[in-house]
Amino acid sequence: MEIYAHRGFSGEYPENTMLAFQKAYDAGVDGIELDVQMTKDGEIVVIHDERVDRTTNGIGYVKDFLYKQLRLLDAGSWFHDRFARQRVPALMEVMEWVQNLDKKIMINIELKNNVIDYPHLEEKLLKMIGQFQLEKQVVLSSFNICSMLKARRLHPSIEIGTLFEGIHESAIPKAKVVDAQAIHGDLLFVLSSEGRKAVAQGLKLRVYTVNDTKVTAMLQDAEVSALMTDFPNEFLM
Ligand code: G3P
Ligand code: CA
Repeated sequence: MEIYAHRGFSGEYPENTMLAFQKAYDAGVDGIELDVQMTKDGEIVVIHDERVDRTTNGIGYVKDFLYKQLRLLDAGSWFHDRFARQRVPALMEVMEWVQNLDKKIMINIELKNNVIDYPHLEEKLLKMIGQFQLEKQVVLSSFNICSMLKARRLHPSIEIGTLFEGIHESAIPKAKVVDAQAIHGDLLFVLSSEGRKAVAQGLKLRVYTVNDTKVTAMLQDAEVSALMTDFPNEFLM
């Protein structure tokens, strides 16, 4: 089972920052998971919430900031004073970093467009993935099925993992409509009969967000391909 660092090594470093990604890489992960939103001037940036309030010293919606304004914010002090120099990364910065790593890792880009519909997010993302030649190292995911359908129409083979919370009988049919290669589900889903059915039908399962190593064996029995965790070090020991 592969280990992905959820929002980077977010258990010990400020989530979705270059530091959290570097520390995850240093710990030996197979992949990192991150979340993207878009600024007023169309830069795809790595931040979980639609607003900057929780994880920076700013106030307001990401979509109302110019990228250069967003870069002035401190994205680390909310976690601990010693991380005050961390910034909200542009997705481009993460891609450049991944491209230059000695070991290949996967990037699971979660499009946070289930609340705000960012114009042309999918087109911009796929263009960027192409520019960095990262087609084989990216997994796109979103709770927004229409967005994943759009991504599939734009790219016939890019890896897609449709996201679900809880057990839904519609998960497999929705994944099939998108022609997704995977379902990203929570523990409830991957350990359910729907999870088993998904595997039997050739879909990969990736599970979020697991921080308790005691469930590892159960997940292996359920043929889960990858586990997303805030504490990758504990699963890589
Ligand atoms: O991608 C799975 C997981 O990250 C979804 O939840 O809120 O942590 O983005 P959240
Ligand atoms: Ca996420």
